[in-house]
Amino acid sequence: MVAPASITEEILELKKQRKAIILAHHYQDHEIQELADIIGDSLELSRKARDYEGEVIAFCGVYFMAETAKVLNPNRVVVVPDKDAGCSLVDACSADQVRAFKRLHPEYVIVSYINTSVEVKAESDILCTSRNAVDIVNSVPKEKPILFLPDINLGNYVRKMSGRENMRIWQGACIVHSTFASRKLVAAKAEHPEALIAAHPECPPDVLRMANFIGSTSAIINWCVNAPADEIIVMTESGVSHSLQKLAPHKKFYFVANENCNCSECPYMKKNSLEKLADCLRTLEPRVEIAPDIMRRALVPIERMLAVK
Ligand code: 13P
Ligand code: SF4
Repeated sequence: MVAPASITEEILELKKQRKAIILAHHYQDHEIQELADIIGDSLELSRKARDYEGEVIAFCGVYFMAETAKVLNPNRVVVVPDKDAGCSLVDACSADQVRAFKRLHPEYVIVSYINTSVEVKAESDILCTSRNAVDIVNSVPKEKPILFLPDINLGNYVRKMSGRENMRIWQGACIVHSTFASRKLVAAKAEHPEALIAAHPECPPDVLRMANFIGSTSAIINWCVNAPADEIIVMTESGVSHSLQKLAPHKKFYFVANENCNCSECPYMKKNSLEKLADCLRTLEPRVEIAPDIMRRALVPIERMLAVK
């Protein structure tokens, strides 16, 4: 879909006036991706947020990503198009629950996926994203027990890849990836027998077992573009189709609908729109505000992660 020129021009003008950068996750609507200065997965966007030197970050993704950008930029303004762009994984794990676990099991190292609230990050020892989770778990001394939270599928995948046995895994799930069913993937493969399969590690184990490649959002895109295949079944959010079609216009990409909505879209990511992006640049609201103490404590595990990989 092509966005009306007036709104895109307004956003570009506001961006200049505000000395703002627009960061967008690959799951954003195509017209938002077209206006973004940087498109990336959660690790790349954290790195770009850390390195940013302007005045305003307009974060088009979900709220926990914008919170991470704010922790890395305490003196900059971070705005989001829609404050209600949440994440089912964030909802699956509260800071109170993590504190209760730590009281009972003080010896555990808390490895938290970036898909957590800033309050949970403040309770964590080190963070990870889907791209670096195996390296982060491997960076924890072997003898130390780990609590990996909150994604059960990523946790099981990391346990398998790292061979780590002393690792407990939280029971949270992504409402998009965890509802991809292997029977639909089998049907898609039967329809496109030449196609290879790429999957995000938040998918269930039976889907991951069928995949030729497992990786983060950007890793999937890179692999699809370079893989020796003209057809690929892509088991992740369909927003990635924008970059895939641009980077490999001669290839065919198939998306499999999940069980929830018969699509493969994240309803939280899709709460953002061009109109809301223009509004947040115009008014500098809604703004991400975090208590200084939480911000200071959450920075420690984020920086530990960025130092590892
Ligand atoms: P990435 O780390 O691959 O960007 O994943 C973030 C996410 O929310 C996946 O659903
Ligand atoms: Fe959260 Fe899943 Fe949406 Fe990613 S796709 S933001 S994990 S609900």
